[in-house]
Amino acid sequence: MTTHDLRSRNWFGRQDLDGFAHRSWLKTEGFSDLVFDGRPVIGIANSWSELNNCNAHLRQVAEAVKRGVWSAGGLPLEFPTISLGEILMKPTTMLFRNLMAMDVEECIRAYPLDAVVLLSGCDKTTPAMLMGAASAEVPAVMVTGGPMLRGKWRTEELGSGTDLWRLWGERRAGRLTDEELCEAESCMSRSSGHCMVMGTASTMASMAEALGMTLPGNAAIPAPDSRRLALAELSGRRAVEMARAGGPTPSQILTANAFDNAIRADMAIGGSTNAIVHLVAIAGRVGVPLPLAHFDELSRTTPFLVNVRPSGKYLMEDFFYAGGLPVVMKELLPLLHGEALTVNGKSMADNVRDAKCWNEDVIRPLSVPLASEGGTVILFGNLCPDGAVLKQSAASPHLLVHRGRAVVFEDHEDLHRRIDDPSLPIDETSVLVLKHVGPKGAPGMPEWGAAPIPARLLRKGVKDMVRISDARMSGTSYGTVVLHVAPESAVGGPLALVSDGDAIELDVPKRTLALRVSDEELARRRAAWKPRPPRFTRGYGRLFLDHVLQANEGCDFDYLRGATPVRREDTAGPSHS
Ligand code: FES
Repeated sequence: MTTHDLRSRNWFGRQDLDGFAHRSWLKTEGFSDLVFDGRPVIGIANSWSELNNCNAHLRQVAEAVKRGVWSAGGLPLEFPTISLGEILMKPTTMLFRNLMAMDVEECIRAYPLDAVVLLSGCDKTTPAMLMGAASAEVPAVMVTGGPMLRGKWRTEELGSGTDLWRLWGERRAGRLTDEELCEAESCMSRSSGHCMVMGTASTMASMAEALGMTLPGNAAIPAPDSRRLALAELSGRRAVEMARAGGPTPSQILTANAFDNAIRADMAIGGSTNAIVHLVAIAGRVGVPLPLAHFDELSRTTPFLVNVRPSGKYLMEDFFYAGGLPVVMKELLPLLHGEALTVNGKSMADNVRDAKCWNEDVIRPLSVPLASEGGTVILFGNLCPDGAVLKQSAASPHLLVHRGRAVVFEDHEDLHRRIDDPSLPIDETSVLVLKHVGPKGAPGMPEWGAAPIPARLLRKGVKDMVRISDARMSGTSYGTVVLHVAPESAVGGPLALVSDGDAIELDVPKRTLALRVSDEELARRRAAWKPRPPRFTRGYGRLFLDHVLQANEGCDFDYLRGATPVRREDTAGPSHS
């Protein structure tokens, strides 16, 4: 039973020239009159693309969603969105996350949709879709593409990204041949799906589930597992119910409590540092303030539970077999807002109360955590007055309190030009500082933060160094890497003023990052500092530079925060000539 006027009836239910046109033109796709009988129209926003390997199987997922929509009495209409493929898209997908969010929002707004199923996968596609759907405020349910099956090379299990960095380090240190590397290359990615460590894609799928925007259990089902298609079918059915009921809408699900739940889940899974930027951006679309200090507050009181790389031992397939995110949420229940509404109409607590853990080495009980605090911490200090981020669960314990001398690289090109220069005065105690890789500086805040360790130090067995930048880091990376320094160097943040040889102090337990240079000297350097000319003077790049916010504000565009919910009457007026 439909409890309210469907928005799509404004297109297809009219007995006028426009109604005639809307029905007639859609009939070119071979639909009978039956589909115009007043059933809800469900949009399937598909980020399928062969340029985005992580989402390349989403056509099959879309077919399963359609099956669900038809079986529940809806009309599924699939439409493409732009797709952000982390590996092939240059200079960085982050440059285009907001563009994709605009694409999704405006398609939902412009077309006759009563609810939408969002199909995402690779890192940025999940937050972009959630941001767009949140601003459009039409009922939405997300289905992510799922992680790849685990990689297997000889006797080793390989994790995407995490083992890429490790094996490349081995190659640079001369311990692996080109032939061996080529063999490992084929063994690492052996099925459809996104990266199968707790990288950004797995983290954001978990965030979507923890926020309540997917059906329970969505995040960890491997991409090739038939249960993912079954979940997609059920999501299609659920979208029809939501369309008929007129909700819940994104703003009813994405509440301050839901974000608290997601942040706690992020801390417990050892999630990607990127989740912080994306959660802040999604929250900005529904008017929920998420200051960085709040992440740290929740991090200090959320145990780290999930033993998955890069912070742990296992892979996403193991996480799925152990019970997946519902088990994590069940363990966290005493710390969560269990009453938070989710997309299936039930509360988070109702969804996870009966979840069972099948491997307590993969998902630890709350009473026996891997660490007493969450995976990510927020740092403040005179080097990052608006905050910086560090993933302590993937850092080296001996570097969490560290004082060292800065070795400064002015930008990414400078880094790659000089990092292996034998005359570079650098050792394992140095602090590697990388500038001009932030939101406006790079631009797009690429995942360049885990800068390479000089080959001669790698050969000595050095595996980690303190690295500081205004960039992001791949969720699959590890190391003692300070990221998202705000304000960034390109806008004159203190990072811009660091010089070779400056003393820098990192103290993770105290959450501080300090540049030990006198105020007078910093004032002198500031007076001499000049911004670089903008990288883009036209097109989307210009729009990005003119409007992107800093990392602590989620890197959304200033004018995209908030929502402009679609209304039933938004379709007024003829769209044909
Ligand atoms: Fe797409 Fe890692 S490259 S999730």
